[in-house]
Amino acid sequence: MKLAVIGGTGALDLFVASSGASLTTPFGAPSDRPRKVAIGEREIWFLARHGNPHRIPPHKVNYRANIHALKILGVDSVLAVNAVGGISPDLRAGSLLVPDQLIDHTWGRAHTFSDGGSAPLRHVDFTNPFAGPLRAAVLAAADRAGLEVTEDGCIAVTQGPRLETAMEVARLAAEGCAAVGMTSMPEAALAREAGIDYASLCIVANAGAGLEQGPITEQDIHRVLQAAMERVQKMIVQLVQDIPV
Ligand code: HPA
Repeated sequence: MKLAVIGGTGALDLFVASSGASLTTPFGAPSDRPRKVAIGEREIWFLARHGNPHRIPPHKVNYRANIHALKILGVDSVLAVNAVGGISPDLRAGSLLVPDQLIDHTWGRAHTFSDGGSAPLRHVDFTNPFAGPLRAAVLAAADRAGLEVTEDGCIAVTQGPRLETAMEVARLAAEGCAAVGMTSMPEAALAREAGIDYASLCIVANAGAGLEQGPITEQDIHRVLQAAMERVQKMIVQLVQDIPV
């Protein structure tokens, strides 16, 4: 397995990494140079989804360039780290979730490599947007690392960068969504088109809009995400150690 981690909000300092590979793609430049990270005897790639420093909003991320750049590097598996708001009552701030489904509410993002031109038109199967064996490996690693992770659940992906209204969250809850984020799409679908296995580790940064009293503050979101990073890192290290050579 050639693994890359695409890190989201709060994940920039996950690892001490190399200066990175400078690449361009037919879709433009990726958010940042993919950086090689040594974990024990192994190496993985790390890509900062929002750039370095963190500046690219979810709807402006060049998801196609990011996935294409990782494909050029020979990556065959991506673990995406995504910040989300919790909708199910059991997903409180600081919880970790490995979703098994998603509903895409994003719009206007460059969401496919099948975009006319010379690329072949493909209608990829997306019944299960996350790769089963990679999800299983992530869950096993979390278990071995002694981390509590919620297995399964559907995430909604909204356009952002604003957070949702209370009624939008109520509607997502009625649709069966356990959490809501802004960055899993089109990333997951592009990975599928590129033949890259893709799984997501969601960090619940806050209760979804309207589920708790008072406004959701960015300070609270960042504090929760920062506090969760140690567990995320532990999980990734365990996952990498578990990968057969
Ligand atoms: N909604 C969408 N995305 C998010 C949230 C949220 O409440 N919190 C962190 N990312």
